[in-house]
Amino acid sequence: MKHLPVTSLLTASLLACVSTSALADVQPWADTSKPADQRAAAAVAAMTLDEKLGLVMGYTDPEQLMKEPDDIVSAAIKADVAANHIKGSAGYIAGIPRLGIPAQWQTDASIGVRVTGMERTALPSSLATAASFDPKITEMGGIMIATEARASGFNIFLAGGGNLAREPRNGRNFEYTGEDPLLTGRMTGGLINGIQSQHMVSTMKHWAVNDQESQRTTVDATISKPAMRQSDLLAFEMIYDLSNPGSVMCSYNLVNGDWACENDYLNNRVLKQDWGFKGYVMSDWGAVHSSAKAANAGLDQFTGYPCCGHHGAFFSAKTLKADIASGAIPMSRIDDMAERILWPLFAKGVVDNPVKVGPIDFEADANVSQKAAEASLVLLKNDAIDGKSLLPLAGVKSIAIIGGHADKGVMAGGGSSGVTPVGGNAVPGLEPKTWPGPVVFMPSSPVEALKAAKPDASITYISGDNIKQAAALAKKSEVAIVFVTQWMGEGLDNPLELPGNQDALVAAVVKANPKTIVVVESGGAILMPWAGKVPAILEAFYPGARGGQAIANILTGQVNPSGHLPISFPASNAQLAHAEIPGFHKPDGIRVGITYDEGAAIGYKWYDVKGYTPLFAFGHGLSYTTFAVSAPKAALDGSDLVVGGTVQNSGGVAGAAVMQVYVSPTDWQAAGWEAPKRLVAFHKADLTPGGSAAFSQKVDPKLLATYDEATDSWVIKGGVYHVRLGQASDDLPQSVDITLPDSRWSAVH
Ligand code: GLC
Repeated sequence: MKHLPVTSLLTASLLACVSTSALADVQPWADTSKPADQRAAAAVAAMTLDEKLGLVMGYTDPEQLMKEPDDIVSAAIKADVAANHIKGSAGYIAGIPRLGIPAQWQTDASIGVRVTGMERTALPSSLATAASFDPKITEMGGIMIATEARASGFNIFLAGGGNLAREPRNGRNFEYTGEDPLLTGRMTGGLINGIQSQHMVSTMKHWAVNDQESQRTTVDATISKPAMRQSDLLAFEMIYDLSNPGSVMCSYNLVNGDWACENDYLNNRVLKQDWGFKGYVMSDWGAVHSSAKAANAGLDQFTGYPCCGHHGAFFSAKTLKADIASGAIPMSRIDDMAERILWPLFAKGVVDNPVKVGPIDFEADANVSQKAAEASLVLLKNDAIDGKSLLPLAGVKSIAIIGGHADKGVMAGGGSSGVTPVGGNAVPGLEPKTWPGPVVFMPSSPVEALKAAKPDASITYISGDNIKQAAALAKKSEVAIVFVTQWMGEGLDNPLELPGNQDALVAAVVKANPKTIVVVESGGAILMPWAGKVPAILEAFYPGARGGQAIANILTGQVNPSGHLPISFPASNAQLAHAEIPGFHKPDGIRVGITYDEGAAIGYKWYDVKGYTPLFAFGHGLSYTTFAVSAPKAALDGSDLVVGGTVQNSGGVAGAAVMQVYVSPTDWQAAGWEAPKRLVAFHKADLTPGGSAAFSQKVDPKLLATYDEATDSWVIKGGVYHVRLGQASDDLPQSVDITLPDSRWSAVH
C-alpha cells in the first residue's frame, strides 16, 4: 500500500481546507481554468531545484534500488520508492505533495495492465485490433484498459506502440499496428485517445526505427532522413497528430549513429521543433547512456532505474547538479524538462482527477475484448469444397479439433506487454518460462466455446503431438479444424516458419480429410506451405481474453468476419527486404548495424516495387457476404484531395466492409515516391443485406508528398494521380484520375 509521509499528509489536509479559488491564489497552477502549459510553468516556478530533479528520474524494483550507493540514490528516495512503487509494476516517480503534484505510477502496456501478480483483462494484440481497420475499436480498448489501470492505482500508461512492421520477423510486431503509416496512425492513435480520455498520460513508443528485437539495445539503424520521415516517422507523426500523446518513449537502439535517447535530430529537431511536441521524452528502461548529451538532445526523464542495462544513474541529482554547475546543462533545460513532465499531468487531467484504487468490472471488460476480437479476426481463405464453403460451419455433425492447446485457451505474446489473465495462465509451464516468457494462454477455450455453440455436434479434441493419431481422427470426422500457434516475445525475433512440426501436422490432416480449416494464432505474418491445400484459413493473431469465444462465433457464423490484414504475409523468405536480421538469435549486446536501403518501401510497397505477389496481401480479408464497390470519387477541396466511394452489401447476411483507397502517381519514380501506391484512406461500414454506405475522407497531404531534407518541407509533384478504391491492396477494381497541383509546405507544424 502507498503511505504518504506525515508532512505531505499535513499539507494535503491543509490544502483540503482551502477552497479551490483560494487554493488557486496560493497555487496558481491549481486553477483548472488556466491552460496546461501555464499551469506547468507556474508550478515549476514554485519548485526548488531538488523538486525539479525529483521529476526527471524514475525508479523500479525497490529491492535492487536499495543496493545503490546513497550518493546516487538517496536514502529518502529509496524509502519513498519502497513505500509507494506498486509491487511488480514498471515504474514510479515521487510526487511533490507540497505543491499538489501527484506521484507518477507507470504501468505497461498497449494490450492491458501488466503487473506481476495482478490478473487483468487482455485486449487482443495490437496487430489484431489493427486488423479491424476501425479506430473506434482501439479507442474502446484504450478506454477499457485505462479504467483497469486507474483502478489499479496507475496514471501513466506505457502504451501506444507505433513501430512499423518493417521487419516481418520482429518479435514485437504483435504490439504494433502493422506496416502502413496511415493505418498505424489511426489505430494506435485510437488506442492513445481512449487511454488519455480516462485522465491518464499515454506514451507513444518506441521512438524510433526500433524495427528489430535482435540486439535491440545496441543495433544501429541507418536510414536516410527522407525515407525515415516518409515511413517510421510518418507513422508516429500521424499518431501524434491524431492523439497528442503526453509522452514519447525513446528506444534502445541507435539511429544513424546516435542512441535514440540522445538523438538531437529525433528528439529536438523532429519531435519538439518540427512537430511542436509539448510533452516529455521518457527513456525506455535502461536506454540512457549519458547525462548532459541526453538532456541537451531532448531526453526529459530517465525512467525505470536501475532496471535493464544499468549503465548509470545519469539523471541522478548528484550528476545533474554537477552538470548544471559546470554549465554542461543550462538551468533552462532543467526547467524545460520539469515543465514538459508536468504539462501532460495537467493537460490529460491527471492532477485534477487523482488516481485511486477501486473495483473492476471484469465481465464488462472481457466483453470489450471479445467485441474487439470479433471485429478483427481475418478470414484469409474460404474456398468451396464439394460445392460449398466450409465456413461458416453449418449442419456439421462431427468435428475434429487438433492442436494449439485449443482445449484450454488462446495464445498471447510475451514480454513487457504480457498481461496475466483473469483466471490465470490456461497452459502453464511452457518454455520459455523466464523472460520474455512465460508463454501465456488466455483461459478462453475454442473447443469449449464451439461445444457450447454447437451442442448437437460431436466435437473431439486431440493435441496433435501424434500426427498419425490426429490424421486418423480427422479422417473419421466430417470436418477437421487445426489450430497452429507462433509465440512471439519482446527481445526476440522470429523466423516466419511455424515452430515445431505444425506444418507437417496440417499437411497430414488435410491429406486425411480435405475438409480442413486452419486457425492461426500468431504474433504476425507466418509462412503457410500448406495454404494451397487448405480450403479455409482464419487468422486470429493473439485474440485476447475471450479469444476462444470470438473464434467460435466466427467459425459458426454467429459473427461475420470483417478483419483485413494490417501486415502482408510473404509467400517465402525470398520476398523479404533483408535475408538476415543482424545479430539474430545471438547473445545480446553485440554491436550490429542494419541499413534500411529499402527506405520507405515497407510491406505492400516493397512487394509493388519488386513485383512480388505475397501469399496474402495487405488489406486482404474475406466475409460471409459479398460487397459491391462503386467507382472511386476524387475531388479537390481547395488544395486538399477528398476521396471516397460507396459500397453495397450484395450478399445475404449482414457484414462489415472495409473500403480502402490507394493513390498512385502516373510515374511514381518521377514523383519521387518510394513505391507505386500508398494507402490514403479507409472506412469500415456495417451493412445489412442490400444496404449501402458512402464515405468521403480528406487525405492528409503528407501521404501524397515526399520529404525534402534540404528545405525541411513536404513536396507534392503536380500532375495526374490515379485514385483506386477496393477491399485490399491487391483488389482495386476501379480507378479514377485526378490532377494535383504542385505544392510545398514546411514540415514545421
Ligand atoms: C521494456 C520495453 C518497454 C516497456 C518498458 C517498461 O524494456 O521496451 O516497451 O514499456 O521496458 O517495462
